[in-house]
Amino acid sequence: MKLSIKVSQPEKQQKTCLIIGIYENGILTPSAKEVDKMTHGFIKKLIDRGAFLGKIGQTLPLYSVADSEFEQLLLVGCGKTTPMSPSYFRKIITSAIKALNTSLTKEATCYLTELEVHDQTLSWKIKQIAEGAAEGLYRFDLFKSEKEPTTRLNEFIIHLPDTTLMTACHQALEQGQAIAAGVTLTKNLANLPSNVCTPTFIAEQAKELGKAYSSLSVKILEEKDMQKLGMGALLAVSQGSAEEAKLICLEYKGTVKKQAPIALIGKGITFDTGGNSLKTPDNMVGMKYDMCGAATVLGAIKVAAELKLPINIVGIIAAVENMPGGTAYKPEDILTSMSGQTIEVISTDAEGRLVLSDALTYCERYNPEVVIDIATLTGAVVIALGSHATGLLSNHEPLAKALLKAGIDSNDRAWQLPLWDEYQEQINSPFADMANTGGRSAGSITAACFLSRFTKKFHWAHLDVAGTAAIMFGTSERMATGRPVPMLAQYLIDRARENA
Ligand code: BES
Ligand code: MN
Ligand code: ZN
Repeated sequence: MKLSIKVSQPEKQQKTCLIIGIYENGILTPSAKEVDKMTHGFIKKLIDRGAFLGKIGQTLPLYSVADSEFEQLLLVGCGKTTPMSPSYFRKIITSAIKALNTSLTKEATCYLTELEVHDQTLSWKIKQIAEGAAEGLYRFDLFKSEKEPTTRLNEFIIHLPDTTLMTACHQALEQGQAIAAGVTLTKNLANLPSNVCTPTFIAEQAKELGKAYSSLSVKILEEKDMQKLGMGALLAVSQGSAEEAKLICLEYKGTVKKQAPIALIGKGITFDTGGNSLKTPDNMVGMKYDMCGAATVLGAIKVAAELKLPINIVGIIAAVENMPGGTAYKPEDILTSMSGQTIEVISTDAEGRLVLSDALTYCERYNPEVVIDIATLTGAVVIALGSHATGLLSNHEPLAKALLKAGIDSNDRAWQLPLWDEYQEQINSPFADMANTGGRSAGSITAACFLSRFTKKFHWAHLDVAGTAAIMFGTSERMATGRPVPMLAQYLIDRARENA
């Protein structure tokens, strides 16, 4: 589907589907007023008779509207409040696209740019429309014998009120489409089951991405390489699995300037059984998504490469499968990490922090300016924040602030949790430098405390996406979200702008 932007008048449209907004209290948007006028009060009549209430996300497709030339009219409910919240705007967009999924109409013209959104600009709305359109059209039916019907829409035109902001609008559209492409890559990889999406498979995908962009190079470290580097923590997690672990290193060079890179580190546990500290069956379903951090690194780098952002990025993915069994690591084993620090394993289910610790130490050789890790690290963050915000912890306040802001601007929010020294005591061990768990209380914070012991040499932020990267539990609703690709993409765009 092609997306474009254009100044257009609703009353002059012919072979298209007009997408127009209606508020809950019967208030019409400017385009709805135009259409109402040309159809001699058709829309007002519908509302008066209670045929359309205008509730957020409600849609009503109409055909053969008298006194009009357009092929279809899609009314979209916009709720009560104006200006509306950013997340409502996004919800309205996605429902509008979903309503067109089964329609035969080939072209749509979207007037929802008229809606007033709290604190947001026209550019922001265009970006959200581009991302929301991709979200509404997303399918994952690779393994279905009967494919769901795909959209007949081949052109989606976003209406602009005037031509004054044309350059900014074009840029917003380009960014929105690049972010949508990154999100889709992340979702597709995350949704694959672990019998397909193994560490080797993720490494292959990274290489494919490297082939698609000349600015991107990819190197894979094998277990024997990791052995030489002394990655005792990462390798212990892999020890019970028949799959070979991979450390995937991507380098994106968007500027010739010698500029310290931004490092993105992804947890890539392709399946987390819990290891010998085995998960219960109920807690194990959803654990194919334990590689969402890895998928996010690839998605975010794709956005940067697609937009040719003038920054340097290093991506490091620790791809490992966590299995129980006779060769697997066990509680009370003591591991020596690449940093030289020793770790007593309390739970083999706290494997994410182990693989990340060696990836973080490995990252030092790139002299990164900042390091951001992305991980489905703790069930505790789901209890604390649910599925609305990513957990953010950092050893550098300006970095935390920049990420929080990028989250707000991209409608992909994070919420900061404290990383106070007081919490560090919880991961003391009588036998090693630290233990890999800190008990039930403040589980997300003590997990970050653990990571913080491997990030002393740089500015670092940790994104715990266990609640946001996917809808993991339940049966029919399970699906990857592609988060936090939009937040990271916004952060990278912001950084590129600072450099310009
Ligand atoms: N991958 C899980 C965390 C997780 C839980 C992600 C639920 C998504 C949904 C992680 O490896 C894990 O098992 N964490 C343990 C840590 C505990 C043993 C200290 C947890 O959260 O229970
Ligand atoms: Mn685990
Ligand atoms: Zn895990």
